[in-house]
Amino acid sequence: MCGIVGYVGSRSASPLLLEGLKRLEYRGYDSAGIAMSNGNGLETRKAKGKITMLENVMTGHPLHGSVGIAHTRWATHGQPNECNAHPQVDCTTTIAVVHNGIIENYGALRKMLKMQGHTFTSETDTEVLAHLIEAAFDGKLEDAVIDALNLVEGTYGIAVLSSKDPGKIVCARKGSPLLIGLGDGEFYVASDVAAILQHTRQVVYLDDGEMGVLTKDGYEVLDLNARRVSKGVSRIDWSLDEIEKGGFDHFMLKEIFEQPQTIENTMRGRLVVEEGFSKLGGLNLTKEELQALEQIIITACGTSWHSGLIGEMYMEELARIRTEVEYASEFRYRNPIVTDKTLCIVISQSGETADTLAAMREAKRRGAKTLGLVNVVGSTIAREDDGGIYLHAGPEIGVASTKAFTSQVIALALLTLKMGRLRNMSVVQGREVASAMLALPEQIQSILDRAPEIEAIAERFKDATNFLYLGRGYNFPVALEGALKLKEISYIHAEGYPAAEMKHGPIALIDSEMPVVFIAPHDAVFDKVVSNVQEVKARGGKVICITSQHESVLDGLIDFEIRVPQTVDMLYPILTVVPLQLLAYYIAVKRGLNVDQPRNLAKSVTVE
Ligand code: F6R
Repeated sequence: MCGIVGYVGSRSASPLLLEGLKRLEYRGYDSAGIAMSNGNGLETRKAKGKITMLENVMTGHPLHGSVGIAHTRWATHGQPNECNAHPQVDCTTTIAVVHNGIIENYGALRKMLKMQGHTFTSETDTEVLAHLIEAAFDGKLEDAVIDALNLVEGTYGIAVLSSKDPGKIVCARKGSPLLIGLGDGEFYVASDVAAILQHTRQVVYLDDGEMGVLTKDGYEVLDLNARRVSKGVSRIDWSLDEIEKGGFDHFMLKEIFEQPQTIENTMRGRLVVEEGFSKLGGLNLTKEELQALEQIIITACGTSWHSGLIGEMYMEELARIRTEVEYASEFRYRNPIVTDKTLCIVISQSGETADTLAAMREAKRRGAKTLGLVNVVGSTIAREDDGGIYLHAGPEIGVASTKAFTSQVIALALLTLKMGRLRNMSVVQGREVASAMLALPEQIQSILDRAPEIEAIAERFKDATNFLYLGRGYNFPVALEGALKLKEISYIHAEGYPAAEMKHGPIALIDSEMPVVFIAPHDAVFDKVVSNVQEVKARGGKVICITSQHESVLDGLIDFEIRVPQTVDMLYPILTVVPLQLLAYYIAVKRGLNVDQPRNLAKSVTVE
């Protein structure tokens, strides 16, 4: 995820900014850049790739001065390249902006600015900020930033520099964290305290709608009406390692806990609740082309394949379009039936999985249109697909995929709303789904708040040697995902099954030592699942049940209950998977295993 660091003081800013950027590397990024203002005006240096590349550029072309802003970019709008890297500048290179977040109305603003004669050089949403500030500038940078931000919809943490108002950094926040670091005759701005911890532990956290104005002589915090806000100073006691993981013990846990935010990011600016519809700008398919589709093939691997199974149900049940899900590794070597009326949806967190990429190329060769649901912007799949939906879940560092899964399911739900409403879904049904989607972030948070209950269950079962996960309907893929999470990080053998299939074989495994996890929210198949619970209980199995409300019918049948909030049937997977991620996590930790880097696994499988 993008990172910001800025410095104003009396020391040379370049080494401080480079060092700050390195401290942000753990967040993931694909390009970096610095802007400094000195006697020569405003200068920038940028590079694609690692910070060492930026260092190389700066060795050849050093930047001098003691006021600067710097950024690590994780691409969202436009490819990861030098041109799209931040800082972004205005037409005359007198204003530089670094930005975390997404400007939702950047398309309209860009159009307006172009009509006013502004020239754009990047594909980023951020560049509109530089031009808006340029247009509003009248001597005082903070006033121009306020004017610009009042036109902007979306989220931002920004830092801005201008050679026309030198010796000053202006920063502002809405929905993307930002803090001011207080030194002795010097001040910092950062999106993450890790960037400045070497230099100060005294910080002022900005809240949404607040702006910081920093010079070497002091700082002030204003609101967007230029009124002064008085702020307390906080002292940071965490170590660097604790900060990088946001205070969590592992990246996986941090990523599980990020899900309220990440699914909101996937939905942001896309869900039109009133119309029960979604706006998906990158599909590159006309309404007519979408309506003419005769079949969908979803292809993916691992966790992404599991989200694909949910997508299949969405598409068939709500959009009434024939859909198949294929393991990418199988699809590429079959002779599948693909026509020019086929849409091939390719799901991949990394966008680099070799089998998935090859499957996409094969589908294309056979005439299908391809649509990538990808998290990593500018990855190979994202570059080669015909259209796409970025997940915007931020970098996933833990090898076991968690937040990407929930964002994939959200992206599939958004696509289903679009396809369904273009076909035969009523506005009432669309609205019901869309408003239930809006409630999900808070609902996930309520599950996360009860993590200690799940940890206690993990303690009870940490020494088990086998687990069975059972679910039906929308929650059968969740059973598969729960079992995959457990086996990959705890090395316990686990199997996921459709609950009713159990009696066709796996039931033989059940004895008093066997934990069986039922995913049984109160949905259309709940009563059926209860019969399956009875079958397990009759054989002495230990039942852990994920359900959505207390059901007296389950009394005496289950040993442990984990409750999730109620939602519409199709969205339960987004809630029911969360306790399973936590269960796997806590079991692995209690077994003393390396949760973030499990044995034999790689984050991105780029070999066949
Ligand atoms: C499981 C996991 C893997 C990936 C699979 C596909 O936790 O991470 O199963 O889901 O390797 O990876 P992507 O989504 O990057 O194509």
